[in-house]
Amino acid sequence: MEQTDKVHLYGASGHAKVVMDIARLAYVDVPCLIDDNQHVNELAGKPVVHSADGLSPMIITIGDCQIRREIAQKLGEREFLTVIHPSAVKADSVKMGYGTVVMACAIMNPYVEVGNHCIINTGASLDHDVKVGDFVHIAPHCTVCGGSAIGEGTWLGAGTTVIQEIHIGKDCYIGAGSVVVKDIPDGCLAYGNPCRIVKIVNQDMVENSRTQLSRGGKLCSLKFHSLKIIVYGRRRGYSYAA
Ligand SMILES: CC(C)(COP(=O)(O)OP(=O)(O)OC[C@H]1O[C@@H](n2cnc3c(N)ncnc32)[C@H](O)[C@@H]1OP(=O)(O)O)[C@@H](O)C(=O)NCCC(=O)NCCS
Repeated sequence: MEQTDKVHLYGASGHAKVVMDIARLAYVDVPCLIDDNQHVNELAGKPVVHSADGLSPMIITIGDCQIRREIAQKLGEREFLTVIHPSAVKADSVKMGYGTVVMACAIMNPYVEVGNHCIINTGASLDHDVKVGDFVHIAPHCTVCGGSAIGEGTWLGAGTTVIQEIHIGKDCYIGAGSVVVKDIPDGCLAYGNPCRIVKIVNQDMVENSRTQLSRGGKLCSLKFHSLKIIVYGRRRGYSYAA
């Protein structure tokens, strides 16, 4: 068990306020936040600085998946933490990457795999064997049923239900309250019940992922690195996990 006393949050946002609260529950201090907006100097009583130089460990606290990915690329090799709210349920067999946050009352059932820099938001439920790629945001109260996969950089809007064994591609936006009953290729904006593609953001991505799907390929490949987790609740510190 390694100990950490602090974490720096990149992004002085509403989302950061929630992550700060989880850090507080784990007795981990947030000495400051970092934000590119030079006009923001304070958030919830914490100072906001405008350079991340020398600051570690870190979590990127920005809800937008593409911006989160850009900042991760900009920051390069760093130590990132994963934080889990004490009320979240996480089966022992769950694998999680670094820089990921899991909010209050989220559920991750056996053999779920969640990548790096993801947000599993308040009350979201990931059932058995669900795979979530890097930089995904599962918004509050989504239900992802067993065996489904959510591709890198995709945002599931609040309250979305994904039925079992569905593949949603990379960099998709799924509108709030959608019910996804068919696979969605990469790069689509889709919403509704049943969820339908409304706009194709990137035609090349759609063609590629349709080909992959027709060959029985998987849209979601996960790489796990050594990871550091602030463990549930009131224990101080975090652990290395497989
Ligand atoms: C899907 C979404 C991205 C579309 O945004 P948009 O492109 O700006 O769409 P608009 O608001 O211009 O709406 C366009 C049309 O789609 C409809 N629409 C928008 N979102 C919808 C949704 N989630 N489900 C069903 N219909 C939707 C609108 O009613 C509108 O219909 P109309 O043309 O008949 O009036 C957005 O509505 C959404 O659901 N965002 C998710 C928000 C969220 O979950 N946030 C979580 C924060 S943690």
